[in-house]
Amino acid sequence: MAPMTASSHATRAQSFNAAAAQYAANRPSYPPALFDAIEDLAGHPLTGAHVADIGAGTGIATALLHARGADVVAVEPGDGMAAQFRRAHPDIPIIRGDGNTLPLTTSSADFLTYAQSWHWTDPAQAVPEALRVLRPGGALALWWNTEALDVPWIAEAADRIDRYFDVNVQAEKRGVNARVADPTGRLDFVRREVRWSRRVPIDTHLANIGSHSIFLVQGEEAAAAFLAEERDHLTRAFPDGIVEEVYDVILLVATNPA
Ligand SMILES: C[S@@+](CC[C@H](N)C(=O)[O-])C[C@H]1O[C@@H](n2cnc3c(N)ncnc32)[C@H](O)[C@@H]1O
Repeated sequence: MAPMTASSHATRAQSFNAAAAQYAANRPSYPPALFDAIEDLAGHPLTGAHVADIGAGTGIATALLHARGADVVAVEPGDGMAAQFRRAHPDIPIIRGDGNTLPLTTSSADFLTYAQSWHWTDPAQAVPEALRVLRPGGALALWWNTEALDVPWIAEAADRIDRYFDVNVQAEKRGVNARVADPTGRLDFVRREVRWSRRVPIDTHLANIGSHSIFLVQGEEAAAAFLAEERDHLTRAFPDGIVEEVYDVILLVATNPA
């Protein structure tokens, strides 16, 4: 796997801002069973809870938390993502900031949620910040949609990405565990996986994968060349033009013992 330097990590973390509309239109959502699992592991409901959704991006998870009855505030560092969020969700509050220095009051949150965004933080700062902002018994929930690699076409497509960009994106995502999420060892995470799927046109699927940071930092030409080849593969495999994306959401939940 090509090593990720500090500067490439920062570049990738900020890459979404130039593609916020593409991100909002094509990225997958999260299933209701995920929110059931969060409530189950936290031991308290989302309805009526004070929730801060960090790295909220365009608001995919924030809107679901809001619909679930949570009193939710979004926190997002990026200009482009925050602007897209405001256009789509004018009735949900959003504050600019990031997980390393949360712009939130001490002991104010019942839940802190990070939907595909914890890996952009520095856990050495983000863990103590989470423990500061969560009330005693409050829960930190981290999750990632990961591709279901037991589905043959998905494993083959993932291999093509890894070979083309000389990366190991799936290992990066699947390798998420309590030790990686919190190298400080202060959080006692419980892990669950939730499988779900969606059927989308090939165009949506390609725009979805093209909105991942590994594509966004390659430059348009390299990304477009890969996506054109990928379109050929998928059109041969799915002549009706529809693919079923299958995901395992990896969920980690830890409660604040303080
Ligand atoms: C893959 S997107 C996830 C967006 C949204 N949560 C979702 O589920 O679609 C990652 C988000 O993390 C944000 N981000 C980058 N660095 C961050 C940091 N240090 N703390 C919190 N969020 C960060 C990015 O701006 C981006 O909006």
